[in-house]
Amino acid sequence: MSQVEDIKARLDIVELIREYITVKAVGANFQALCPFHHEKTPSFVISPEKQIWHCFGCGRGGDVLSFVMEMENLGFGETLRLLAPKAGITLRYEDSNNYSQRNRLLDILDLAGKYFTHQLGQNSKGLECREYLLARGLSEETIKDWQLGYSPETRGLIDFLGTRPKLGKKYTPEEIFLAGLALKNESGQYYERFRDRIMFPIWDINNNIIAFTARVNPLKEASEKLGKYINSPQTEVYDKSQVLFALNRAKKNIKKENLAIIVEGQMDAISAHQHGFSNVVASSGTALSSAQLKLIKRFTSNIALAFDMDKAGQMAADRGLKEAMTQDFNIKVIILPNGKDPDECLRNNPADFKTALTDAPTMMEYYFNQIKKEFDFTKIAERKLAVAKLLNMIAKLANKIEEDFWLKTISAAADVPENILRETVKNALAKVQPGSSKETPLVNLPQASLSREERMSELFLSLLLKFPDFLEYSLNNLDPDYLVGEPYQLFYRNLIIYYNKTTVLDYQSFREYLMNQDESLGPLLDKISLLGDKDFYDYTPANIKNEIIKIIIDLKKSYWQAEIKVIEKELAQAEPDGNKDRVGVLMSDLKILNDKLRQIQIANYD
Ligand code: UTP
Ligand code: MN
Repeated sequence: MSQVEDIKARLDIVELIREYITVKAVGANFQALCPFHHEKTPSFVISPEKQIWHCFGCGRGGDVLSFVMEMENLGFGETLRLLAPKAGITLRYEDSNNYSQRNRLLDILDLAGKYFTHQLGQNSKGLECREYLLARGLSEETIKDWQLGYSPETRGLIDFLGTRPKLGKKYTPEEIFLAGLALKNESGQYYERFRDRIMFPIWDINNNIIAFTARVNPLKEASEKLGKYINSPQTEVYDKSQVLFALNRAKKNIKKENLAIIVEGQMDAISAHQHGFSNVVASSGTALSSAQLKLIKRFTSNIALAFDMDKAGQMAADRGLKEAMTQDFNIKVIILPNGKDPDECLRNNPADFKTALTDAPTMMEYYFNQIKKEFDFTKIAERKLAVAKLLNMIAKLANKIEEDFWLKTISAAADVPENILRETVKNALAKVQPGSSKETPLVNLPQASLSREERMSELFLSLLLKFPDFLEYSLNNLDPDYLVGEPYQLFYRNLIIYYNKTTVLDYQSFREYLMNQDESLGPLLDKISLLGDKDFYDYTPANIKNEIIKIIIDLKKSYWQAEIKVIEKELAQAEPDGNKDRVGVLMSDLKILNDKLRQIQIANYD
């Protein structure tokens, strides 16, 4: 077995997809709202038996690997790297073309992480930094667990990564540069990007280190010009708008508690986890990007923001708020006592954080109170501005009941009739609609729309696959020509040949047979068989009989009707031309066809 097959065989497609979306058992299969396009009723089907998935809305489909590739937006090699540990397999890289540049960069970052943690326990300045972290209340265990490290001031990392004969792998300074860990000076020499700093690894959601954030040595904090924190640059593996710090650790608990707490700083997140708030992630000091919110959306629709309560923190909160509102999150704002940041609050008294979380107002409540504090409602000009700001926010509310509540509240507070407010919101919405920046659904592959006959042909085949008891009967009563759509005809012809040879229908061997005939037929089989599973899961052979007979008759009717149309068209041309012979032939053809149409009969099924 190849490594790829081995990995596929050891993974359960349902369990894996469940890590990303909510799936529901329907009959022998599972259904879900498709994660690749926007939809309200589930057309995404997973077959545990066949280990395949297909979306009847957008037409995507495949196996466990293709699902993860699409979902994570990864190449084939990276997907294997991600899935191998889940399958309990160690990838053999030597022989593999799958070992991409991206994987090499991830290896570099992984090794660098080990190097930095080593330095935190070895280097004398590293030890000072370690003392600092302990003095800030982090436990030994936390430091180890989060792989906190230290980057020495002197050259080291590049040499460490450049000479690793024991592992048979060496990394060039250029690669280390591409991983974001080195810089180049004017004469083209490489040197370490991070020097004399406390190192925090940043993981992607799959536990790969993809970057570092580096805090200045506390002893140098006052004099450092570069900034308290510096971060890895954008690299092939790191896009900061696509990552949330600690999401890899928090995702399970976010799902379990159905809430994500979002803080700004790495220290805040680590401290929160140490204090038992394991559903906390950090935005790393920037406003929440839409990609970050989308990541969270996989696990929950509820977020609580615990940003610094100073001015800057509030601004970041506001920007994050607006973005989150358009994505239909339920948002709360955690108000921490005495303008502390979460880490300070937790160190001071963890119970305060808990209380603040319990008492957290909804985002609209919070915003409303802010505005009331900021503006003097007794002055007309200020009141107008305040109302405009509030309405601006309300226009983004997805929930109509909430919208209603706030319109009433504002109407009372600002003494403006409710219907005027309502009008304003409506107009604001009308303006945003066309070409608005609202999230458009992921590329929605239009499924080539099928004609009625094509749909019926597809349905017929899916019924046969679902209820093979009717195969014999159907094959004898409907020739492939009656099907509409070339792929369906081809499929049906092969089904007949295969079935006549084997007289049973084993999915896997039928699939192999089809793939040998034509590569497009395998995926078509997946699709057609899932369609049957999806639409007829609650049918039994007893009530399916009439369905099949009806479709066979329908398909035959359509076939003859189409033939008749062709003749009629020809007639319409031949008559005015005065071509009597031709007209005669066509008329007799037409009679034969009409007889056929009238006489469509079908053997009884018993
Ligand atoms: P803070 O300045 O609030 O840091 O910035 P902090 O977490 O309280 O740090 P300590 O407690 O002094 O160690 C919050 C976040 O903003 C980003 C970092 O991600 C930081 O965790 N930041 C801050 C930067 O990227 N650069 C900076 O210069 C400062
Ligand atoms: Mn802090």
